[in-house]
Amino acid sequence: MKHKIVIIAASCLGLFINTQAQTKGLKDYFKNDFTIGVAVSPRALKTDEAQLILKEFNSMTPENAMKMGPIHPFENQYNWAGGDSIAAFAKRNNMKLRGHCLCWHNQTPRWLFFDSSTNQQVTKEVLLKRLKDHITAVVTRYKDIIYAWDVVNEVISDKEDEYFRPSLWYQICGEEFVAKAFQYAHEADPKALLFYNDYNEINAVKRQKIIKMVKDLQAKGVPINGIGLQGHWAVNEPSKDQLEQTLKDFSALGLPLQVTELDISVYPKEHTARERKASDSDTIFTAEKELKQIEVYKYCFELFKKYKKSITSVTFWNISDRGSWLDSFPVRGRKDYPLLFDAQLKPKKAYWEITKSESNK
Ligand code: GLA
Repeated sequence: MKHKIVIIAASCLGLFINTQAQTKGLKDYFKNDFTIGVAVSPRALKTDEAQLILKEFNSMTPENAMKMGPIHPFENQYNWAGGDSIAAFAKRNNMKLRGHCLCWHNQTPRWLFFDSSTNQQVTKEVLLKRLKDHITAVVTRYKDIIYAWDVVNEVISDKEDEYFRPSLWYQICGEEFVAKAFQYAHEADPKALLFYNDYNEINAVKRQKIIKMVKDLQAKGVPINGIGLQGHWAVNEPSKDQLEQTLKDFSALGLPLQVTELDISVYPKEHTARERKASDSDTIFTAEKELKQIEVYKYCFELFKKYKKSITSVTFWNISDRGSWLDSFPVRGRKDYPLLFDAQLKPKKAYWEITKSESNK
């Protein structure tokens, strides 16, 4: 009799754990730590990926829809359709929404920097006025749903002996556009959390430059509320120590940190685009690649939890291995598998590894 009860209890427990595994998502496993986000396109929200998003995530970032080029293609024309549909999905489903991004050197329309009649570069005054108009319109439109903005993206140089990236923004305005962008965003929505976002923050030299810029902005009273670490990483970097040092250095600033664009490529990291080589045709997701990726995902999440006082959100860049920007960078057409869900939208082993210790919470 006793034996029978034990068996019944054990199978009930098994059933319970199973159902839990089926109903719980990343957002539930990490609910006491940080929000879990995902970069989306308006199209994805109309496919089977929408169900996965609802189950697993409690925050979204528009992958492209709110970038300057797509949303503001001409001076007097905004293209709100994509941004609006993502905002509506977030509202309908009670999800958080991060805005991305208000000022960047890429995916930026040409009209911003050039005079339409003379074709000459505009002056600093004109460019700052255009930046202000852009930021005011976009931030105001999504004020009711976007709680945090990547205001300025990637202005620090990757070159050791160069501070700012010599973009057209910098060439025309000097450093000042950074402070101005934060000021305009704050004026448009005083409640929004305003982030500086960058990549390769694990590089000690670049990191110190980012920290210096943030401290200088703070000293000038610029309304900056947090730092976004993109987190485009790979099986060979960052090392655990490198990531720990990165999180330690940034958290010492006392500002909230968000991991804004996490993915872990199964290929060794290359920072610049290049032509295809014969060896690039080997794109099978082997057990070896999988194991290496699991290891990196595991220590990333261990460290994110260790620094959870500072880290308020972790967002993945793309939904599943069905499609990632890494399929065309650094090598066009080389399939990558950087996310936690496979092309059939099933959780990969890395998913179970990072959620294992969270299961009974
Ligand atoms: C940067 C940008 C993102 C995205 C990725 C690559 O990290 O911030 O918006 O374009 O590059 O897809």
